[in-house]
Amino acid sequence: MRLARREFLQSAGAALGALALPSVSSDTGPLAPSPAGGSICTALPALPAGASPIELIAGVCRQRIRATGPETPVWAFNGTAPGPTLRFRQGDTADILVRNALPQATTVHWHGLRVPNAMDGVPHVTQPPIAPGGTFGYRFRVEDAGTYWYHPHQSSFEQVPRGLFGMLVVEERKPLPVDREVLWVLADCKLADDNRPVEDFGRILDFGTEGRHGNVITLNGTAAGPHRRLELRPGERVRLRLLNAASARAFLVEFTGHAPWIVSYDGQPVRPHPVPDGRLLLGAGQRTDLVIDGTGAAGRSFAVRDHRRGGFDIATIAYGGKPVRPKVLSRPAAIAPNRHTEPDLGRATDHYLVFEGGVKGAPAIGKVDGKALDVGEIMARHGLAWTMNYTAQHEHAMMHEPLFRMRKGEHVTMKMINNTDFEHPMHLHGHFFRVLALNDVATRLREWRDTVMIDPRGSCDIAFVAENVGEWMFHCHILDHAAGGMMGTVVVEG
Ligand code: C2O
Ligand code: CU
Repeated sequence: MRLARREFLQSAGAALGALALPSVSSDTGPLAPSPAGGSICTALPALPAGASPIELIAGVCRQRIRATGPETPVWAFNGTAPGPTLRFRQGDTADILVRNALPQATTVHWHGLRVPNAMDGVPHVTQPPIAPGGTFGYRFRVEDAGTYWYHPHQSSFEQVPRGLFGMLVVEERKPLPVDREVLWVLADCKLADDNRPVEDFGRILDFGTEGRHGNVITLNGTAAGPHRRLELRPGERVRLRLLNAASARAFLVEFTGHAPWIVSYDGQPVRPHPVPDGRLLLGAGQRTDLVIDGTGAAGRSFAVRDHRRGGFDIATIAYGGKPVRPKVLSRPAAIAPNRHTEPDLGRATDHYLVFEGGVKGAPAIGKVDGKALDVGEIMARHGLAWTMNYTAQHEHAMMHEPLFRMRKGEHVTMKMINNTDFEHPMHLHGHFFRVLALNDVATRLREWRDTVMIDPRGSCDIAFVAENVGEWMFHCHILDHAAGGMMGTVVVEG
């Protein structure tokens, strides 16, 4: 089933009527307006305020990704990739009806939000998959302010890079004072010369290496590049909510000519501080909120550069207009934190999690379905490439042993040891954790996160309180790694 965008919109019904409404409270940044008459959706759309339930329709449509050539068939929420930005205020109840108009089963996971387990969107673990044509209602209280996102958890190594992802913003009760908010969703996609997607999902070669990378980096759904302009006025202060929704790629972003303040990681406020070494590492699944002050003069422009891709300019900050204020503002105040229970390291139980495998990996041994195998056999027989604590698990297998069992209220420290040649952005569902140390060096800020990057052959120490009852996924957010064995669960017993 493949519908043109117009047909999709017709079949999707009245809920989409307001799709083209501009968002009231945010600015989509360096986005060209859609050329008249085209089915080009480059701006991050917003849903009508107050709709309840919010309808999210996962379907097939077309989108202009490259500037030239034909449009690209994508899978998307409500007809655009990224899907509509869902905005809530802290304390709101989210009521979201997901309709599956895809040719495959799906689910939606609310990455980072501490939702009740049954609302977490993990097929076979927290809910049955939503069959094609089916629906599922998600309802939860939005407890945590910050920048989050949503994406399928079913065959995510295919569904996410096809375009199924969107930002989810929860406004603080007392928002950070800025002139404007800008949302950037970075991702990538793999396109052939004729702009059709290369549909080589699920290759063991990608599972066992750095994951499947696209050849087109996208910013808010269309090709990134120096032509994507963020227009700033001198002295202006913007809050940039930055999300890496790529299925495997990490970004290392430099804002040349600027000294942005980092104000939160994964939605959790930190003491505002400059970007360490001027380069912001953003692993798959991670978010960073930045405050950028317009220090340039009218007429100047500056590159926003990704150093992971050999200095590729993803956008340009361009100055124009009258100064907003005579003098650039100084360090912003910290945002009020979300509610976190401080882990007590003195009485925490210690856990270890060891990663092995990958194509160049040591000849790891591991268990699959209870049988011990070496990594060659694991790859050849099961299409799996990685082990976590010496087991390799099929994505969302019905039969698996949790990696850890914890009691509700248990204080936990965990050391993750990466015995592989690849980096891994590890994500825990249902909880935030403090990052205590990276490669055995204590972090300065002990930031709260839900996804942490672990260097090749590196390590990471985290701590948290197991507070949210249920079975929670704990996996690598390189989605090809998750499908290749780096997918486990933590059970918190009530
Ligand atoms: Cu963003 Cu388990 O995922
Ligand atoms: Cu990984």
